[in-house]
Amino acid sequence: MPWYRQHGRHALPWRMTRDPYAILVSEVMLQQTQVERVVPRYAAWLERWPTFCALATASPADVIREWRGLGYNRRALNLHRTAITVLREHGGQLPRDPAELLRLPGVGPYTAAAIRSFAYEESVAVADTNIARTIARAILGVESQRDVMARVIADAAANLLPVPGARDHNLAVMDLGATVCPARAPRCGACPLNEICAWRAAGQPPGAAASRPAPKFEHTARYARGRIVDALRQAPATTAELAAMLPRRHAARTADYLASLERDALVVRAAGDLWSLPVEAG
Ligand code: ADE
Repeated sequence: MPWYRQHGRHALPWRMTRDPYAILVSEVMLQQTQVERVVPRYAAWLERWPTFCALATASPADVIREWRGLGYNRRALNLHRTAITVLREHGGQLPRDPAELLRLPGVGPYTAAAIRSFAYEESVAVADTNIARTIARAILGVESQRDVMARVIADAAANLLPVPGARDHNLAVMDLGATVCPARAPRCGACPLNEICAWRAAGQPPGAAASRPAPKFEHTARYARGRIVDALRQAPATTAELAAMLPRRHAARTADYLASLERDALVVRAAGDLWSLPVEAG
């Protein structure tokens, strides 16, 4: 905790509120997007839609447009659906019950725990990727959370949890993982757990996950789907127009990408072969 008080990322905007809506928005944005990218988009989102009620009345197309630059566009639609559900089924209040939280679109075990800890200050362990890696190393003596079963990380995280003080503890371990103990090149000299770290004591053995390199992002379907949604954020377009702006390796698969985006309700067939973002409320 002394390390956290001095070096923690206390000024992150979502840490200065206990509003469940704002914290849900931040956690969904942070699921797969870097903190620095999220900061400005979080502020813009809350300015435009400050409550579940405001978000529920937006059109899916506006929600997808506002998500630009964050990637994984399905998250935007899930957030929108969650706002509608919170309004219809929970009287506009985000539920506290974990089972109810898990029933909301886009809310998995991590996000449910984060909401309970950061918004409601309940004594629950949070294990995002930074926390899981830090526990894997410092407590379990392995390089990565992928070197043990998820249950083992969850149990270790629960055992470590101080009561009271769970919220700050979760944030402290998260910041330690993010800033001192990243996946590559941990800065052990700057780490307050240096002396007690089980992984360091074991000589930092490499884990099994030093695996094959990930495919180039530009070669993935996710990249191509993202480019298509980016184009439709500007204006509706035909399959041929969309194929023409994709790199050659993706162009022949444009119809497949559109079909999968249509299944995810991220695009709709506006007329004939013209595609657009979904305008009507889902
Ligand atoms: N503060 C609270 N939740 C966070 C998260 N998921 N990433 C970074 N900082 C956070």
